[in-house]
Amino acid sequence: MAVRINPSILSADFANLERDLALIATADYAHVDVMDQHFVPNLTIGLPVVTRLAQVSPVPLDVHLMVDDADRWAPEYAAAGAASVTFHAEATQAPVRLARELRSRGVRAGVAIRPATPVEPLLDLLDEFDMILVMTVEPGFGGQPVIEGTLPKIRRARQAIRAAKTATWIQVDGGVSRQTIGRIAAAGADTFVAGSAVYDAADVPGEIAALRALAEPTVSA
Ligand code: DX5
Ligand code: ZN
Repeated sequence: MAVRINPSILSADFANLERDLALIATADYAHVDVMDQHFVPNLTIGLPVVTRLAQVSPVPLDVHLMVDDADRWAPEYAAAGAASVTFHAEATQAPVRLARELRSRGVRAGVAIRPATPVEPLLDLLDEFDMILVMTVEPGFGGQPVIEGTLPKIRRARQAIRAAKTATWIQVDGGVSRQTIGRIAAAGADTFVAGSAVYDAADVPGEIAALRALAEPTVSA
């Protein structure tokens, strides 16, 4: 399994997004948090900004939609140029239909679950999704500590993916840092979002490399 490090531009300088995207050229994806102030109590950016970010980013965009009515909005982010679109299971009427729609538009389809949402309903449907995002914090803000009780869901998802022999990625988002990435990787994640850890670092490329080096021995074992 490969390690993917996806810095979250939620912790970048919103007045200098192009400059801050250039800092993460050694990452795998740029993680873009879209929030609507309804699904979560925060408001970030929408389609016009994401469209421009896709045009200037040195790496593909991994869009994390924290919005209500994902069935309506997620396909628009595929059209905006995202490489991967992740919607929340709690915000869709029809996760399988939506994932199929996204895939038909040529993007990777991810499904996210909040800390208190069980992973089990997804485990019989693994081949319908390219990625499961296990939120390790309540979505909405950067800089929160990992909720340790979410880690067993990562373990169970990894077991199910092994058993089903699917290529589903497991992404974690929230509280990923040098201190936590080892045990999150050990639980079975392979795709790591890190916002404050990367963008608060004095040496951003160095931080990406450090996180990758800490996760790699575990993920490829
Ligand atoms: C939070 C967002 C995250 C956020 C993570 O709801 O989905 O992507 O940027 O920030 P850190 O890595 O600081 O916990
Ligand atoms: Zn996110």
